[in-house]
Amino acid sequence: MEPIRKVRGIRDIVFPESAKWDEILRISRNLLRSYGYRSIYLPVIEFSNLFSRAIGEDTDIVLKEMYNFKDRKGRDLSLRPEGTASAARALIEQNVFSGSGSEKIFYFGPMFRYERPQEGRYRQFHQFGCEAYGEKSPSIDAEIVGLAVGVLLECKVGIPELQVNSVGCRECRSEYKKTIKKSIGGKLSELCDDCRRRFDTNTLRIFDCKNEKCQDIYKDLPGFSESLCASCKEYFDEYRKYLDEMQFEYRVNSRLVRGLDYYTGPVFEIDISGSTLIAGGRYDNLIKQLGGPDVPACGWAFGMERLSELSCLEDFSSPQFYFATMGDIKKSYILRVLEKFRDPKDGLDYAVEADISDVKIAKKMKNADKKGYQYVILIGEDEAENEKIQIKNLRTGVQTEFSVNDNELSKKIDGMLEGTR
Ligand code: HAM
Repeated sequence: MEPIRKVRGIRDIVFPESAKWDEILRISRNLLRSYGYRSIYLPVIEFSNLFSRAIGEDTDIVLKEMYNFKDRKGRDLSLRPEGTASAARALIEQNVFSGSGSEKIFYFGPMFRYERPQEGRYRQFHQFGCEAYGEKSPSIDAEIVGLAVGVLLECKVGIPELQVNSVGCRECRSEYKKTIKKSIGGKLSELCDDCRRRFDTNTLRIFDCKNEKCQDIYKDLPGFSESLCASCKEYFDEYRKYLDEMQFEYRVNSRLVRGLDYYTGPVFEIDISGSTLIAGGRYDNLIKQLGGPDVPACGWAFGMERLSELSCLEDFSSPQFYFATMGDIKKSYILRVLEKFRDPKDGLDYAVEADISDVKIAKKMKNADKKGYQYVILIGEDEAENEKIQIKNLRTGVQTEFSVNDNELSKKIDGMLEGTR
């Protein structure tokens, strides 16, 4: 029978990549928790109009990339293409802003965009994101950039390129649109159909266009910085001072507008080898726009697939020991030894994969080797009778005996691991 294959642009994540993901998540969650962020679990399915209202009707994401469908009652639903809109909707709906209005959250999960699949670009991908609500100050904008860089450093990703810009407030954007319209002027007829439409409906979205001819025209357009109003300029300058103090190298890319409409003020992207790993910025109007109170916010998200690909983390915590029995051993002894190894109370807390089946020991050893284990804990009838275990190092062939009741068991095993690592 023909095997059923996975859907194009969607990946299976299996060991060892899955273990790398676990490690990246552990690092990211710990770092964010240490800054007061708390976890949130968001639905994958939302009403479609959440995204058109939040991300923007005229963005590539909403126009071309959403997985939209109708449920049995004919309601328009979508698979979420990102987490910021869902997080805002959820916190409004759960009344989280009714208190102080300030809240810091992080989330992780699959997102869906119908893009052309290629290396690092998938139709189902995973984002880890964080959002800080209720505070408007350049220091928090800089702090979230610091967190993003912190995640990359801890995940052993190479030196990132940080690009920043400000997309200003409504007034700045309307000023910038006028400048752009004036600058494009006579070349309007040379633009693609999408860009000609966007020129009138949502001018900034012309920058999302991937058409080379359009890109060529846009490369000489003036940047955003010249259109910033006095207060947005002051805010952006302060933000940059914080980044300087944090000794981050960055480049102001005044044409960085981001592909989502909700941004206001500072935005950033962290790229490595031409691929955007983490991106985000400030979005002060979104909560209100979605029917909530007037709560300012900023945040970012990274793509797990991209970050994992570039991360040099290794040596993931797969089980450390393979446990194999020979002969007829009392179950109570087996369970006692396993519990001892796995229980942190005993100071051991090792990961142990056990094979206590009747399969021949040679086959069990072969399995351990195939699965990449270096150490096998062996228990035969003699060992069970004398409350002992043997640990065999499959790489060196050396076998060491330990007494299960030895008070120094954990120290001695650690010593063995240190000596042969
Ligand atoms: P975004 O730039 O659309 O921003 O996506 C954030 C990150 O998700 C990207 O930098 C990239 O690493 C990853 N990503 C996006 N599309 C794909 C894809 N097709 N395949 C693989 N990875 C992908 C947002 O989504 C905003 N919600 C970020 C944010 C949070 N802004 C404020 N808070």
